[in-house]
Amino acid sequence: MASTIVNMPLNVGTIKGLDCLSHGKFNANVLPIRPSISSLPHRRMFVVKASTNDGPIKKLGISDAECEAAVVAGNIPEAPPVPPIPASPAGTPVVTSVDIKRRPRRNRRSPVLRSAFQETSLSPANFVYPLFIHEGEEDTPIGAMPGCYRLGWRHGLVEEVAKARDVGVNSIVLFPKVPDALKSPTGDEAYNDNGLVPRTIRLLKDKYPDLIIYTDVALDPYSSDGHDGIVREDGVIMNDETVHQLCKQAVSQARAGADVVSPSDMMDGRVGAIRSALDAEGFQHVSIMSYTAKYASSFYGPFREALDSNPRFGDKKTYQMNPANYREALIELRADESEGADILLVKPGLPYLDVVRLLRDNSPLPIAAYQVSGEYSMIKAGGVLKMIDEQKVMLESLMCLRRAGADIILTYFALQAARCLCGEK
Ligand code: PBG
Repeated sequence: MASTIVNMPLNVGTIKGLDCLSHGKFNANVLPIRPSISSLPHRRMFVVKASTNDGPIKKLGISDAECEAAVVAGNIPEAPPVPPIPASPAGTPVVTSVDIKRRPRRNRRSPVLRSAFQETSLSPANFVYPLFIHEGEEDTPIGAMPGCYRLGWRHGLVEEVAKARDVGVNSIVLFPKVPDALKSPTGDEAYNDNGLVPRTIRLLKDKYPDLIIYTDVALDPYSSDGHDGIVREDGVIMNDETVHQLCKQAVSQARAGADVVSPSDMMDGRVGAIRSALDAEGFQHVSIMSYTAKYASSFYGPFREALDSNPRFGDKKTYQMNPANYREALIELRADESEGADILLVKPGLPYLDVVRLLRDNSPLPIAAYQVSGEYSMIKAGGVLKMIDEQKVMLESLMCLRRAGADIILTYFALQAARCLCGEK
């Protein structure tokens, strides 16, 4: 009997009760970037029996015309009866049904219908995996971020990237832990072509030429003050002088092979300046993902522990945005668009879904959302304490960021979530 192989989304129906999260998420784009797909194809194949010439009616020797004639003559063939109406529990009130024309539950009543009408999808292709790196050979666990490590740039990092690629996550963003001795008030290590980040980019590009590498452009990992910019004697963060350094940093990263440089510093005018600096050096092809709306958030706490990059004094409120502000994000959006940003980012993610939607509705550019360290750690902690179902909350939070309008999501869950979406544990 002939059969046809049809490519189907994974796990049609429900996986582990995740239901709406489990559909349409592993799109065709994902497969080609998997180098080893040995364990996958059988999960993605769905065998459909094609129609053949030897169906049941032919076997019985009755022609279509004879079947029709039999029905017309009143000899109706048997079929299963209409199923009985399912019983309600004793004590259920007997009511005359309410006259409701629009019953939205009709479209939710089965997994197939829910899947057909699902508006948003979640795929490993949407994830960018933030990775912490250091000079060491060992991977050091980060206390405030269970499951995350400062990875040795030469070994642990390369293995982690391989794992991510194996489940369709082929985009990463690098965050370096810089030795204290290399930090300075002007953060000059940020543009050392042989520094940790450029060296790591070269290594990764050598191993995985198609890996998309995002970099963070900001001085904080390199600043002895732990600020994103140069700090003047009176505590003021110097804008234009910092932008000068950021341009050198971005060019150094581009020279090493970065695909997307991501200014997260929130200095004014840095996107335009970085664009010009990149272009002047022949890096017209390198993209800029601007942290358009980056808020002065307490959700960054675990990250600063990871990189030991807490500001030595004060806070970041003179450059990062006030969490109370919404319209102000439009000012940043207009500046970034006109200065040539390729991707606009909102950070943090889940507490700022309204801002994600604002940017989505006001710009045709791709939108990124950063599910930051504090968001990640809260879900992890809730899971460890058995207060929430970690896996379901993880997938729901990511889906919600997509629903709000994010094209891509920077998330420490990238590997774990992609494994779930691929049907692994
Ligand atoms: C620094 C930077 C920060 C994060 C990304 N880039 C911290 C900060 O602004 O203090 C935070 C990411 C996270 O919390 O996961 N330029």
